[in-house]
Amino acid sequence: MDQNNMTRREAIKAMGVFTAGAALATSGLAAIGDIKIGNSKKMKVLAINGSSRKDGNTADMLNLVLNELKKEGHETELLQLAGETINPCKACFACGGKGNCVHANDIFQSVFSKMKEADAIILGTSTYSADVSSTLKAVIERASVVCDMNAGIFRHKVGGAVAVARRAGAMNAIDTINHFFLNKEMYLVGSTYWNIAYGRLPGEALNDEEAVSNMKNLGQNIAWLLDKIQ
Ligand SMILES: Cc1cc2nc3c(=O)[nH]c(=O)nc-3n(C[C@H](O)[C@H](O)[C@H](O)COP(=O)(O)O)c2cc1C
Repeated sequence: MDQNNMTRREAIKAMGVFTAGAALATSGLAAIGDIKIGNSKKMKVLAINGSSRKDGNTADMLNLVLNELKKEGHETELLQLAGETINPCKACFACGGKGNCVHANDIFQSVFSKMKEADAIILGTSTYSADVSSTLKAVIERASVVCDMNAGIFRHKVGGAVAVARRAGAMNAIDTINHFFLNKEMYLVGSTYWNIAYGRLPGEALNDEEAVSNMKNLGQNIAWLLDKIQ
């Protein structure tokens, strides 16, 4: 490849560890014990699977996205909500100044803590009744109010939306997730097409070739943005 046409990431890879380290030392970025490798800092990426089915199509699509981020050295986690009941927001607004929901009778507090720690959040859902699952909607509902009552809590995080459907309604699910991200000052990442996959039974969405390449590209695009904003 022409050296002049390399991206920053490609250039760093081509330079190799020693040269990159030397370059960083002169730029003041390298330090013993620093978690920066080359110019890239390891970031935390959390994917939440809102499907009621563990390890189904939505999990498969989210893993495709996460694998691309793992390849770039980022720390990834897939959190599957199947089997959990997450209660709706009680509209008590007691979360003001607390940084989390005050109700501890389900797993929401730990889900929200993980979201706060993450640099990028990918919300994935099976399409239910032409929208996100009610489990994911409960997370969005409560997270949204906690963010409203604790300003800037998700500001400048990166967001990605993924939906799987048998036939229709996935676009609404993507919109629901993106509205949440936009409303919380997050950066939305897209792909070459909508981040939607088609399939009914577990594993079927992996046969959707366009979706598979789309999910991989989404992961690469998230990695690209994380690299820019670190
Ligand atoms: C309660 C329920 C509602 C559903 N509603 C829709 C729908 O509106 N549109 C659609 O295309 N598929 C619908 N489906 C099918 C799922 O979206 C589809 O099977 C998907 O692959 C499930 O993903 P998963 O394996 O991650 O659970 C529904 C399935 C269930 C269980």
